[in-house]
Amino acid sequence: MKQTLIIANWKMNGSILANSKLLIAMLKFHNKLQHVELVICPPFPYLHQVKEYMVGSNIKLGAQNVNENNSGAFTGEVSADMLKEFSCRYVLIGHSERRALFQESNDIIAKKITQAMDAGLTPVLCIGESLEQREKGDAQAVILEQLSCVINDIGLKKFKSVVIAYEPIWAIGTGQTASPEQAQKVHRMIRQYIYGLDPILSKSISILYGGSVNEINAAELIKQKDIDGFLFGGASLKSDSLETICKLK
Ligand code: G3P
Repeated sequence: MKQTLIIANWKMNGSILANSKLLIAMLKFHNKLQHVELVICPPFPYLHQVKEYMVGSNIKLGAQNVNENNSGAFTGEVSADMLKEFSCRYVLIGHSERRALFQESNDIIAKKITQAMDAGLTPVLCIGESLEQREKGDAQAVILEQLSCVINDIGLKKFKSVVIAYEPIWAIGTGQTASPEQAQKVHRMIRQYIYGLDPILSKSISILYGGSVNEINAAELIKQKDIDGFLFGGASLKSDSLETICKLK
């Protein structure tokens, strides 16, 4: 049975004190999780703190970004090997906020994925369309372009280790969650595209939904056949919301 993968993207939020309170609350329920893999992606400065709290638990650590180079004169950047040293297992790549704020192109994203995989990390490839693209009827083309660029660049064999996170930009941080039907339609389209390349991979690959997921809408979303978990932001900073979402069947 495929595990439900739930990834908490803290974005640029938290403090040592606030993190401690949240992590202590998480440790109270993490061992009751069944068939769920919970991953915490804090800002880089808190990786050590989260790692320390997670010792002995089955909560995994992730990062929100990685540089596309192995090492060198890249001031302010963090390498995949450094994340590995901090016991990261996952790394978000190509989040729409980074694509917009830092002009991360599909080819840079492909390079980041290769760096992550070479360091033994699981890349979480974030894809999704803007409201304008959806309203123009370009959502499918945009999403498949984001996917195909990476697959063509790194090859299907490497892509087998990638987790996909569909995050419609218009749903991120807006409270305008995609309806279960809207999300399922896109997830199905993504899985059918993968099926066309590799039928076995299409069944094994995890496709997460992200975009204003919370304890109220998560239950209907997770019932969808092609939604394998969540990548969420705001709700992941509230322990009761996180607990409710993690305990969904
Ligand atoms: O990476 C997850 C994030 O983009 C979704 O944020 O606050 O809409 O759950 P939020």
